Amino acid sequence: MAKAFYRLQKLIRRTQFLLFFLTAAYLMAGSLLLLQRTRLVIQQGSHGTSNNQALMVPDEMARVGIADPRALQNPHPGPRLLVGMDALQEPALEHSPRWLVSRNSELRQLRRRWFHRFISDQEPMQTAGFKVIKHTAEHKGTYIGCFTDDSRERTLKGAIFYDLRKMTVAHCQEACAERAYTYAGLVYGAECYCGNTLPATTSKPEECNSECKGEKGSVCGGVNRLSVYRVEELRAGARRRRNVIYRGCFRAPENLTDTFPASLIQPNLTVEMCSEFCSKKEFPLAVIRGQECYCGYPTGSFSLRDGADGLRCSRTRNTSSAEGKYCLVYQTPVQDTRCTDRKFLSTKSKVFVALSSFPGAGNTWARHLIEHATGYYTGSYYFDGALYNKGFKGEKDHWRSRRTICVKTHESGKTEIEMFDSAILLIRNPYKSLMAEFNRKYAGHLGYATDRNWKSKEWPDFVNSYASWWASHVLDWLKYGKRLLIVHYEDLKQSLIPKLREMVEFLNVTVTEDRLLCVENNRDGNFKRSGAKQKDFEPFTQEMKDLINRYILTVDEALRERNFTGLPREYMPR
Ligand SMILES: *[C@@H]1O[C@H](CO)[C@@H](O)[C@H](O)[C@H]1NC(C)=O
Ligand SMILES: *[C@@H]1O[C@H](CO)[C@@H](O)[C@H](O)[C@H]1NC(C)=O
Ligand SMILES: *[C@@H]1O[C@H](CO)[C@@H](O)[C@H](O)[C@H]1NC(C)=O
Ligand SMILES: *[C@@H]1O[C@H](CO)[C@@H](O)[C@H](O)[C@H]1NC(C)=O
Ligand SMILES: *[C@@H]1O[C@H](CO)[C@@H](O)[C@H](O)[C@H]1NC(C)=O
Repeated sequence: MAKAFYRLQKLIRRTQFLLFFLTAAYLMAGSLLLLQRTRLVIQQGSHGTSNNQALMVPDEMARVGIADPRALQNPHPGPRLLVGMDALQEPALEHSPRWLVSRNSELRQLRRRWFHRFISDQEPMQTAGFKVIKHTAEHKGTYIGCFTDDSRERTLKGAIFYDLRKMTVAHCQEACAERAYTYAGLVYGAECYCGNTLPATTSKPEECNSECKGEKGSVCGGVNRLSVYRVEELRAGARRRRNVIYRGCFRAPENLTDTFPASLIQPNLTVEMCSEFCSKKEFPLAVIRGQECYCGYPTGSFSLRDGADGLRCSRTRNTSSAEGKYCLVYQTPVQDTRCTDRKFLSTKSKVFVALSSFPGAGNTWARHLIEHATGYYTGSYYFDGALYNKGFKGEKDHWRSRRTICVKTHESGKTEIEMFDSAILLIRNPYKSLMAEFNRKYAGHLGYATDRNWKSKEWPDFVNSYASWWASHVLDWLKYGKRLLIVHYEDLKQSLIPKLREMVEFLNVTVTEDRLLCVENNRDGNFKRSGAKQKDFEPFTQEMKDLINRYILTVDEALRERNFTGLPREYMPR
């Protein structure tokens, strides 16, 4: 007990020390960048660099979904959004001094925000979809040895995650155990890979020589070398069943043996048995029909698109015949790895593509989708250690390296836009963007602003400056962007695969249908937001709504003028 306490104390002391230096380094680097970009901004009068990017995940819609009821209550369907646009044209939209003021204060806040963000990163954050893992766990797995990490023949490729600051052996082991994998492998002191098959080639023990970033004195692989542990024992303790997710009842494909690569027939088959069997074989789906258990992936012939009435399955469940037309589908804890490999472009891209959005509009989520769909890393105009840790390796690449498939930016302003040859412009309902961004500002990626925040005078100030920025962001890209693909966040959420296909085609990458289905299977990515939903309330006053509605109409008009489809209906004035 005393020993554990002492160790904890030591750890805390060390962490503080490290934190201090990292912070100093971070701030210095940040200042340089800031300086360089501030100059740009002042010259161009752009909207400044906003490093604030909410981690957009689909369930965030639920978080900010409190605005939805209004949309339902106020259905004004019409072929066009626009009425009497002329009256709404606001010259102030282009050159408002208030904007400059808010932009400059944005910049001033930037450094503070970087700092703040860095600090808040130290708080436990979910990494790679795993529950926050207590670091007190001892190393329970059995050390197997040091192996060569062959990136072409990777056998440990499930549930990959990185942590540049806090990776420990225990962290990786628990993560893999939680996902029902047998082996956990660590590389470069900071990367964790899971799988059920050992890598083919062993290497000399001394080649595993990278210290774990989060634990002095312990080894987390080496350069292209994996320290591999067997974690099955951990798994016996951790319950597996809780990780199985019911996906629904579906019409069985014509030929199940054709569709699913592995199967098991067993009297008295249970969900747990089937899931266990499929997890072992590293398949993300466990499919049950009577006594038969099948394992596989969602594919073109079994896309999990049209769920059937659950009753149909309960009827099949006890017929015990193979004639059943329906089957029960479960998601095993194992990750669909058909789309998880990512790399940098092997030759520099000729076309420099931006992934542009207003903060809080789902940029990070879109990056996650694009990376998994194309297999290439995305870059960023900013650098954000928290995102790097979540596996966005392009985050640390220079944004102009052209080794990434597209580059995230929140910038607007002629120069910043004209640097890019083309752009995916991601637009989200401003009501939701504003709330998402406000939540992020006050409570970080995972939290919600408090009632006091919403009632403070910061909220109206925030709405005033950000709402106009929301509009000008789109208007500027429409004006200066050379080749644009407009993607509405809401459409992306609703019809993921078709929209994703458009984006991938726009990027001139060819991908298989299966790959897109895999992305759909991993759509939430590595950032599940925890925390209770916000209770119903209305943060927007009528005055705010009037302001935002004018911007919505202006943007809608501008889109149509450029022959794009207008904003989705749900943006419609409330
Ligand atoms: C299903 O496909 C497999 C492999 O292609 C084949 O051997 C089998 O006869 C097929 N079964 C049916 C019922 O068509
Ligand atoms: C299946 O269940 C029945 C009744 O619960 C039992 O009699 C039988 O032994 C079980 N079969 C197997 C293989 O476990
Ligand atoms: C199937 O389930 C129904 C009720 O859902 C039950 O009445 C019936 O006896 C069951 N059939 C078999 C073969 O177990
Ligand atoms: C994709 O190909 C088209 C036609 O060749 C070209 O105009 C466009 O710039 C390319 N886009 C990218 C991102 O490479
Ligand atoms: C939009 O389409 C119309 C007719 O199809 C065309 O006349 C007009 O030039 C187009 N505008 C732009 C900005 O491409």
